[in-house]
Amino acid sequence: MADQWQRVGALDEIDEDEPMSVRIGDHTIGVFRIDGSLYAIEDICPHAFALLSQGFVDGEEVECPLHEAVFHIPTGRCLKAPADRDVKTYPVKVEGDEILVNVSD
Ligand code: FES
Repeated sequence: MADQWQRVGALDEIDEDEPMSVRIGDHTIGVFRIDGSLYAIEDICPHAFALLSQGFVDGEEVECPLHEAVFHIPTGRCLKAPADRDVKTYPVKVEGDEILVNVSD
């Protein structure tokens, strides 16, 4: 399979309190930085349409800005209704000062 690592931005473009939203093909992905580690999750809340990258980050959790569902960023696990499923997570790596996300599956 082709290499599906895609550049999403530079490391200095993402702050702890300012997640980034990127589109890669059909995927809308939120990239979060927590304690220096990067995580990429499906950015569209499974409940309705809201971008989790515009939500409220508290430690490793993000609260949807629309109806307050909560997700665990490192695992994508849904912790609080009204969303009723987990969000997908994507592998992230850093090369030099570039952030890359793998969207292969
Ligand atoms: S859109 Fe996210 S909880 Fe409703």
